[in-house]
Amino acid sequence: MERVKLIELLNDMSLEEKIGQLMQLSSNFYEDEAVLTGSAMEFGIGENEIDQAGSTLSIFDPETIKKIQQKAIEKQPHHIPLLFMADIINGYKTIFPIPLAQGCTFQPELAKECAVVSAKEASAGGLHVTFSPMVDLVRDARWGRVMESTGEDKYLNSLFAKAIVEGYQGKQLKDKGSIAACVKHFAAYGAPTAGKEYNNVELSMRSLREDYLPAYQSAIDAGSAMVMTSFNTLDRIPATGNKWLMQDILRNEMGFDGVLISDWAAIEELISQGVAEDKEEAARLAINAGVDIDMATNIYIKHLAGLIQKGTISESQIDKAVLRILTLKNDLGLFENPYKDLNPEEYSRYNLCSSHRELARKAAADSMVLLKNEGILPLKKSGLRIALVGPYAEELHLYGAWSLLGEDKDTVSLRVGMECAGSENKLYCIKGVNLIPDQEFLYGFKGLVTERNPVTSDSFEEAVKAASEADLVIIALGEHAYHSGEGGSKADLRLPKQQRELFEAVSRVNRNCISIIFSGRPLDLRDISEGSKALLQAWFPGSEGGNAIADLLYGKVQPSARLAMTFPYCTGQVPVHYDHFNTGRPFNGDHKNRFQSKYLDIPNEPLYPFGYGLGYTEFGYSEVRLSDTLMKKQDTVTASVVVKNMGEHAGTETVQLYLQDQKASVVRPIRELKGFQRVYLEPGEFVEIMFEINEEMLRFYNHNMEYTSEQGAFTIFIGENATTNNQAECYLQLD
Ligand code: NOJ
Repeated sequence: MERVKLIELLNDMSLEEKIGQLMQLSSNFYEDEAVLTGSAMEFGIGENEIDQAGSTLSIFDPETIKKIQQKAIEKQPHHIPLLFMADIINGYKTIFPIPLAQGCTFQPELAKECAVVSAKEASAGGLHVTFSPMVDLVRDARWGRVMESTGEDKYLNSLFAKAIVEGYQGKQLKDKGSIAACVKHFAAYGAPTAGKEYNNVELSMRSLREDYLPAYQSAIDAGSAMVMTSFNTLDRIPATGNKWLMQDILRNEMGFDGVLISDWAAIEELISQGVAEDKEEAARLAINAGVDIDMATNIYIKHLAGLIQKGTISESQIDKAVLRILTLKNDLGLFENPYKDLNPEEYSRYNLCSSHRELARKAAADSMVLLKNEGILPLKKSGLRIALVGPYAEELHLYGAWSLLGEDKDTVSLRVGMECAGSENKLYCIKGVNLIPDQEFLYGFKGLVTERNPVTSDSFEEAVKAASEADLVIIALGEHAYHSGEGGSKADLRLPKQQRELFEAVSRVNRNCISIIFSGRPLDLRDISEGSKALLQAWFPGSEGGNAIADLLYGKVQPSARLAMTFPYCTGQVPVHYDHFNTGRPFNGDHKNRFQSKYLDIPNEPLYPFGYGLGYTEFGYSEVRLSDTLMKKQDTVTASVVVKNMGEHAGTETVQLYLQDQKASVVRPIRELKGFQRVYLEPGEFVEIMFEINEEMLRFYNHNMEYTSEQGAFTIFIGENATTNNQAECYLQLD
C-alpha cells in the first residue's frame, strides 16, 4: 500500500480503533479459538475490544494463528490484520546455541545464518516479529539474562546486533522468510545493580553513551523495525516513561523511526516504581515518552481516550504511534497478504530439516570454548573405556531458558553424540547426582520444574566406581537452563553443591577428567578447572548439542571459540570485564604494598579473560609491526603480525586487535577491542595479518562530552586474547 493510502486509512479510523492498534494482547486472550477467556474478563475488556487489538504475542501454532487472523480481519472495521509477535531468541524449532555462546564464535556472519533460519521457520509458522536481538551489554554474571546477550564488548555486540537484524529481516520485510526484528531492552537493562533482575541501573552518562548505546545504534542502523523499552530505571527514571531517553536519544539522536513497544507490563510498573500515581498517569508518561505499543496490559486501551478528552495528551500523538504500526504492517506486506508466509506444509518441511540441523551443529561446535587441555584431547576413536557421568550426561534440555519451542525429543544428548562419534570406545553412562539442587523449588517459564530422571540413592557411588575403572572420565556438569534467563539472577556462581561433590569424588579416583560445563553464564570454575585435565564450556548448545560436543572431543572439529564474557575468579569479583580503567594505584604484583588497587583474598585477574580460548594447536605471533609510528587525522596506519601454526593439528586462530589511549582528558579503558580476524592454518603454515587503524577508532566522549579523539600516544596490541602484551606504540597527531 502506498503511504498516502496508509494515511487515508488512518484518517478514516475511529479513535477507538486507533487506540486498539496500540494494545498488544497475550495468547491467553485467544485460547479456545479466540473465545473470550477468564484473563480477558480480569483485564476488564470485552470481545469488542479484543477485536480491536493491533498485535498479539506468544501464539505459536500456525493453524491457530490463521484462525485468529481470519477472525481479526473480519471483525476489525477496516480489516486491519494483526501482528503476531514472539520471542524467537536462539531458534524457532531448530535450536541454536544461546546468544552468549554465539558471541563466542566471533563469527557474526554465522549468527546471521542462524537468524535467517530462525526467521524462515518462524515465518512459515505464521509469525511476523521476533523480540530479538537482545543487545544489552553485560558485565555481571550474576544477572541471569547475560545468556541472551552476545557479551561484554561493545564492538563485538555491535557486529552481532547488525548481523542478527539483517538475518531476520532479509532485504525487505515483505520478502518470503523475513520477519521484523525488535532490538531490546532500551536502555542499559544489562547493568542492573548487583546483578539482581529488574534492579535499577546507575550509570554515568559517559558510560551509557560510550559502552551501552553502540550496540542498539548498530541494530537501528541495520534497520531494526522495532525497539523494546527496558524495565529498569536509568538515572532514577524508569526507561518506559523516560521522554528524554525515548525521544531525544532514541528517536532524535539515534534516528529510530520504527515501532517502540513496552516490555511486558512495563507501563503499569511505572506505578510500583513510584513515578506514576495510577494507571492513567502511567499511560500519560508512556505515551508522552513515545511508547507506541502497550505490551500485555489494558492501560492504553482504558486510559488514552480519557486523557485526550481531558486535553492532557493530543490525538495526534496517538496518530503518530498508529501510523508507525500501520507502516510496519504494510512493510511486512500484511495488507496484501495477512498470513504472510504462514504455510503448514513448509512449516513441517523446514523445522529441524537436515540443513538447519547441520547449521545448528556447526554453530554449537564453533561456540564452545575450550578453557583447558593438558594434552588429553582430542580423544582416540577406539580402545578407550570412558565413564560419562554427571547430570548433563543424558540431559535433553540443552536449549536454554528462552527456547519456547525447543523440545527434548528433537535434541541430541551428550550420550547419544558420544555413542555415534566413538562407537569403538566403551561408554559407561551414569548420572550420579541430580541437576536441580535438592530442596530447591525451581520455577521455569511454565511453572515448577522437576528433575526429569531423578537419581537413585546408589547412583553417586556407581558413578565414582565407573570413573575409577575407566581410562578417562567425561563429567558433564552445569546449571539448569532455568537458573539463567529472565528471573535467573544468582548470588553464588559456583556449581550446585552436589555436583561439586560428585566432581571431587570422581576426580579423586581418576585424574583424567574432562569437564563439560553447561550454563547460561560464566561460572566460578576454579576448582573444576584445577581438578580437570580438560575443560570445555558448552553453554546451552541447542538441538545438536551432543553431536557438537562429540565433534570437538574427537577432533572432527577444532575448537575455535573465544570468550565473549570474562570468567570471574569467583563471585565476589563481578562485575568484571577486560576494558576497565586504571586506578591511581594500579597493582604491580607487590603484595607487601597494602595501598594498591587489589583484593586481599583473590587475584585481580579473572579465571579466564575475554577473548580467551584454546584449540588443538598453538599459534606463534611475531612482534607488532607498524607502517608508521605517526598517524595524522586523515591517515591510516597498518599494524601487522605474522601468525604461525606451531603445532601438529590444523586450527583456527582469532587474531585480536586492541587499542589503548595512553593519556586523555578523561580516563580511558586499559584497552578496547577494535578488530579481529579468524584465520585457519595448517601445521607449519603462517600468514601475515593486517589491521588498518584510523583516527575514528580512537574517538571517545571527552571531558566536554564531545565524541572526538585527542592527540597523543596510543598502544596497539595484537594477540590471542585481551591479556596479550604483544604491542607497539603509535602517535596520533591532529594538527
Ligand atoms: C519480558 C522480557 O523482558 C522480554 O525480553 C520479552 O521479549 C517479553 N517479556 C515478551 O515475552
